[in-house]
Amino acid sequence: MPKGEIVVSGIRSTGVLHLGNYFGAMRNYVRMQDDYTCFFFIADWHALTTHPDTKELSASVHRVLAEYIACGLDPDKATLYAQSEIPEIAELYLLLNMLAYKGELEKTASFKDKVRQHPENVNAGLLTYPVLMASDIMVHRAVKVPVGKDQEQHLEMTRNFAQRFNHRYQLDVFPEPYPFNFGESLLKVPSLDGTGKMSKSENQMATLYLNDEDDLIRKKVMKAKTDSGPTEPNSEKPDYIENLFQLMRLVSDPSMVEHYEMLFNDTTIRYGDMKKALAENMVEFITPIREKARELEKNKEFLHHVMRQGTEKARASAAATLREVRKAMGLQYR
Ligand code: TRP
Repeated sequence: MPKGEIVVSGIRSTGVLHLGNYFGAMRNYVRMQDDYTCFFFIADWHALTTHPDTKELSASVHRVLAEYIACGLDPDKATLYAQSEIPEIAELYLLLNMLAYKGELEKTASFKDKVRQHPENVNAGLLTYPVLMASDIMVHRAVKVPVGKDQEQHLEMTRNFAQRFNHRYQLDVFPEPYPFNFGESLLKVPSLDGTGKMSKSENQMATLYLNDEDDLIRKKVMKAKTDSGPTEPNSEKPDYIENLFQLMRLVSDPSMVEHYEMLFNDTTIRYGDMKKALAENMVEFITPIREKARELEKNKEFLHHVMRQGTEKARASAAATLREVRKAMGLQYR
């Protein structure tokens, strides 16, 4: 049953999902699944560009899939699959590689970052990462791509490849995809140490993962940086304090946020109390997701069923695009 416009997004299978992924991506996906034709996948090929060791690959793909569903994605509404099960993506990637220039790939910000981080593994897959990502999107002829700021350059490159293809082969096979967020702009989830946002790899104690146990959640929140409190009424909040309020706005009742705003403004706030309250709300928020994900993760039969169903739908969509692509290029000999 086709719904609205086509949406594609992927998440790499490295690392455990955290609160930043939830508010930055998953929650958005869940809101889109009723109104759009959604393809959400696990970018396992992309993971290989930086994580060549595949010992844990299958476990992480199952875990991410279980987490997707635990966060509210419904396999009957959105198409869920692993990238590597769709060979049409690899075929499109090969063809798009002929339209991608070495120079533009070399100056991509994510490539330069990765060269800096892993000078010992600057492989061609890393260089052509944006071409693979463009293939993920273009293979379904998607127009809307829910991604964060750090992926905007990749999307811009995707639009270039789409235009180049249409121009070179004189057919409008591909629409141009744009970043898309549902409703309000993306919520930033600050890390607990007052520096930047929550991320997969950086300071583990400053990031709340969707599979953290209750006591670990409490411990992390209680360790968040604070100070001895404001000395003047209605002062400006230091960044690390504003971050705590920000986190509270995500998971707590507005009345609780208001309560601590008031205590801050009249200088009677006790950060220990605030963090205790925040920690309990975080536990209440994360626990059901963690438990649901663990239960699903154990149910391999169900996960396999979801993947079979998603792969079938994704391949049908991808195969239709590749037929158009081969036709446009004249790759047809019989
Ligand atoms: N590059 C994205 C990231 O690092 C993951 C990704 C791969 C993706 N293919 C995609 C996102 C296609 C959106 C669409 O987060």
